[in-house]
Amino acid sequence: MGQNMQRNALVLFLQFCVLIIFLTHVNGETSPFDHHFHDQMRKMQAFKSSIIRRELASSPSPSPSPSYYSSPAPSPQGVDVHAPRVFEATSFGADPSGKSDSTAALEKAIAAAFFQGPKERFLMDGITNLGGAQIHLQGGIYKISQPLRLPAGGAGNLMISGGTLLASDDFPTDGYLIDLSPPSSAVASSASYNYEYTTLKDLMLDCNFRGGGISVINSLRTSIDNCYITHFNTNGILVQQGHETYIRNSFLGQHITAGADPGERNFSGTAINLMGNDNAVTDVVIFSAAIGIMISGQGNTISGVHCYNKATGFGGTGIYLKLPNLTQTRILNCYLDYTGIVAEDPNQLTITNSFFLGDAYIVLKSINGVAKGITIVDNMFSGSDKGIDIVQLEQSNGRFKNIDQVVVDRNSVQGMNIRTTIAKESVQGNGTSWTVDFGPILLFPDLINHVQYSLSVNGTSFPSYALRNISGNKVVIESDVAISGRAFVAVNQAVTI
Ligand SMILES: *[C@@H]1O[C@H](CO)[C@@H](O)[C@H](O)[C@H]1NC(C)=O
Ligand SMILES: *[C@@H]1O[C@H](CO)[C@@H](O)[C@H](O)[C@H]1NC(C)=O
Ligand SMILES: *[C@@H]1O[C@H](CO)[C@@H](O)[C@H](O)[C@H]1NC(C)=O
Ligand SMILES: *[C@@H]1O[C@H](CO)[C@@H](O)[C@H](O)[C@H]1NC(C)=O
Ligand SMILES: *[C@@H]1O[C@H](CO)[C@@H](O)[C@H](O)[C@H]1NC(C)=O
Repeated sequence: MGQNMQRNALVLFLQFCVLIIFLTHVNGETSPFDHHFHDQMRKMQAFKSSIIRRELASSPSPSPSPSYYSSPAPSPQGVDVHAPRVFEATSFGADPSGKSDSTAALEKAIAAAFFQGPKERFLMDGITNLGGAQIHLQGGIYKISQPLRLPAGGAGNLMISGGTLLASDDFPTDGYLIDLSPPSSAVASSASYNYEYTTLKDLMLDCNFRGGGISVINSLRTSIDNCYITHFNTNGILVQQGHETYIRNSFLGQHITAGADPGERNFSGTAINLMGNDNAVTDVVIFSAAIGIMISGQGNTISGVHCYNKATGFGGTGIYLKLPNLTQTRILNCYLDYTGIVAEDPNQLTITNSFFLGDAYIVLKSINGVAKGITIVDNMFSGSDKGIDIVQLEQSNGRFKNIDQVVVDRNSVQGMNIRTTIAKESVQGNGTSWTVDFGPILLFPDLINHVQYSLSVNGTSFPSYALRNISGNKVVIESDVAISGRAFVAVNQAVTI
């Protein structure tokens, strides 16, 4: 009874829906509902044709290669615009066991993604939209003896995902497993960028100590997501020119280790080398390499990166900023683990909310003596009482002389020496002179831009007192008569605004 009533209600409701669809359609009004109706129709048609296609595909084929792949460059009329565009590596003869060389097969799969299907829409001027074509590695390991390159420049909206690439023993030592630079044979493309919106996802790249993992050259909006890149000799990832390569949730290490590796002293190579602008490295672990991240382009953001690539004591560097006087880099929420940060002539650099463990520290290295617009605040430093300064100056090329807007402050420091540009101290005395020595904590050796001071006097007298000297970061206050009192002094090193 109750069930019958429910069924009747459902039938009534469905009739009502059909009526609504009919009415809105007849009215010819373009309501959102109407679009939805067309959408549904299109989806039904697409579903129908996909069933027909599947029936065709399931009929036995004598050739192992899939029906949607014919030749790397089919004539426009030979293009099947309805074919699904997920190109599975094994369909092109790639060997997922990693035993035989799969270079040619994978090149064919990539070529198919490039040359099959519609290309009616454009991304940036001159970039062909591949529509989201995917090259799927099907969870296999593929050995390659040459870098995988895309067959032509000026293309975008392509994904390579889901498996492992392994460099063969004769892989070129200057090559990259995936090389996003156009082949030298390609006709110079009219596009100003080589590739746009390429996604490299869920990949393990084993460089077999020959060359590097991924190179992204003059490309736009590239994603490297959930990749594990190891055994590189040059760079794990190289980004050159172009912009917006986003490297996220990935793991890079020259040697597979979980820290305290007996061979750490010998780690070499660079995990991520950013030689371009406006890139982001987010939530990445770098577990072995001489340099974790090398940056020589502006406007890059490094966030949530854990570097334990090679300890400072063994000559390693977590993040190296090699853009003297044009830094414009933000390092946020990172974890520098026994390895530090080096910045050459920093001009506009923020390091904040990061954790420095194991006596890890920051070096400002003078090239032409510029230290401007630097903010090192709200970090934690933890060491083992070896007297190591949290921020150090490397002035073997000459002293910093162009110093402005440098703020090193509010860092929490345990087991290391604090260095700061803003300090307050007081000293009790009896006589006519009070000296507060800021030498042990101020960052720059002989620099005080600003002093505030006052004298708290015991007793009832009103002595005159004055600031006499700030040389060598020692603040001297003198009074006209001998008194007992406390001098309070606040200094600021490098704020001239
Ligand atoms: C490091 O490299 C040197 C020179 O190549 C070699 O003699 C040494 O055994 C290596 N150390 C380790 C721990 O691998
Ligand atoms: C640093 O860059 C500024 C322009 O941003 C320029 O005026 C200055 O001369 C440069 N200083 C050095 C030492 O190159
Ligand atoms: C301060 O110095 C004067 C003269 O030297 C002395 O008489 C006095 O006891 C001293 N007061 C204190 C608190 O040290
Ligand atoms: C002056 O006052 C401070 C505390 O404000 C005290 O420590 C010091 O002993 C006093 N000195 C004299 C001479 O009373
Ligand atoms: C300030 O102190 C330095 C070092 O003690 C000294 O050489 C210099 O003459 C002093 N300057 C003045 C104005 O007293």
